[in-house]
Amino acid sequence: MRLLLSGKAKCNSHGQDSSYFLGWQEYEKNPYDQARNPQGIIQMGLAENQLSFDLLESWLSENQDIAGFKRNGESIFRELALFQDYHGLPEFKQALVQFMEEIRGNKVGFNPNKIVLTAGATSANETLIFCLAEAGDAILIPTPYYPGFDRDLKWRTGAEIVPIHCTSSNGFKITACALQQAYQEALSRNLKVKGVLVTNPSNPLGTTMTRAELDLLMDFIVEKQIHLVSDEIYSGTVFSSPNYTSIMEVLAKYKKAEVWDRVHVVYSLSKDLGVPGFRVGAIYSNNDSIVAAATKMSSFGLVSSQTQYFLSALLSDKKFTRNYISENKKRLKKRHASLVSGLQKAGISCLKSNAGLFSWVDMRHLLSSNTFEAEMELWKKIVHDVKLNISPGSSCHCSEPGWFRVCFANMTEETLEIAIRRIKAFVESASRGQDKVISSQRSRNVNSRKKSFSKWVFRLPFHDREAGER
Ligand SMILES: Cc1ncc(COP(=O)(O)O)c(C=O)c1O
Repeated sequence: MRLLLSGKAKCNSHGQDSSYFLGWQEYEKNPYDQARNPQGIIQMGLAENQLSFDLLESWLSENQDIAGFKRNGESIFRELALFQDYHGLPEFKQALVQFMEEIRGNKVGFNPNKIVLTAGATSANETLIFCLAEAGDAILIPTPYYPGFDRDLKWRTGAEIVPIHCTSSNGFKITACALQQAYQEALSRNLKVKGVLVTNPSNPLGTTMTRAELDLLMDFIVEKQIHLVSDEIYSGTVFSSPNYTSIMEVLAKYKKAEVWDRVHVVYSLSKDLGVPGFRVGAIYSNNDSIVAAATKMSSFGLVSSQTQYFLSALLSDKKFTRNYISENKKRLKKRHASLVSGLQKAGISCLKSNAGLFSWVDMRHLLSSNTFEAEMELWKKIVHDVKLNISPGSSCHCSEPGWFRVCFANMTEETLEIAIRRIKAFVESASRGQDKVISSQRSRNVNSRKKSFSKWVFRLPFHDREAGER
């Protein structure tokens, strides 16, 4: 039967065999539920924002007409049922760009004629790559990056991702050297580099890019005459300083330069408004040809007229959006602090971050060796025994083993507390396991450390103690 399928249907580059997606499958087999399945797996691998649903729901209850296909009391059911223009509802595009401006502190202006509506950022990213690259061309992306990019940017377009390796030595910041190395790597693989794609704020780091990094990127794309795509899907989740800088703010000073129409923004309401099921995304570009081509391509993933109608009413309610944006940030900040301090008590630290729906967690000290195999061993233990689905850094193409992405906004505070208790118990039992090994070694005076050494002990403290004993 498989013989009858196309190469695309049979090919594996969709990336669904990544541990990122495998963790979800494990969760689905045994999902945690406080009442029905308290021993189940807690889903901490899903970047969903459920913290501000009550605000959306209360707006909806006060605006029943909107949900009921009515405008000023009159039914507009027929109008909406027949509307399917790929240019979108003008009032929705207007409301969306104003929301995007509000999120950026009104420091940048967006023109509704330069926006293309898509079915989520997934579709926006793929559509942009279709516009920029031929099959076999390369896009450079800083690591660690969102695992879905392997599917969204490569699978159907045939483009290649070449990593820009970022490391913990400088908090995973992009450097000029890393950019040049990635560019050279692409050339050595005979790939034509078409652009750089960044996620700002970053998924999985939860950090915002500095002005220096953004300037560096601009210099790089000017020098190489390539494009820059900035996926700003988390721009409304920045809950602490430093302030957020969108690439559009930096681009303002390039208005008369050639690069003006080579910088593109991807946006979506999936994270900032917490409505991934509505499938609302957008491409914003100063490039008329890209806007025209992407608009035509958007036929393959339109946003339904009903959704556009509902959201244009919601987003043009300025009182609501202002309150939502600030309240949502407060809640994210509080939740992020709970996760970070809870993990701290378990002896686990996180990369300092100020945005997103997740933390980038450092578990290098829990690895049995500094390898990706050890990271997978630890991850399996955490999913199957500790019963938490988190995402290993390797699924985000991180260059260093031992980092994990842990989501915190898709659950209640109580569930987060349970998750933290589980991880704390795990770390304590791992360290007790280590003590047992040490005392039995001491009594038996055995030198061969590896044989009896538990997989889940802390490497460094073990060595430290041994050294102290001598
Ligand atoms: C960086 C990034 N881009 C794109 C997406 C896809 O978002 P959407 O639900 O809007 O398709 C995600 C989802 O997690 C993401 O994290």
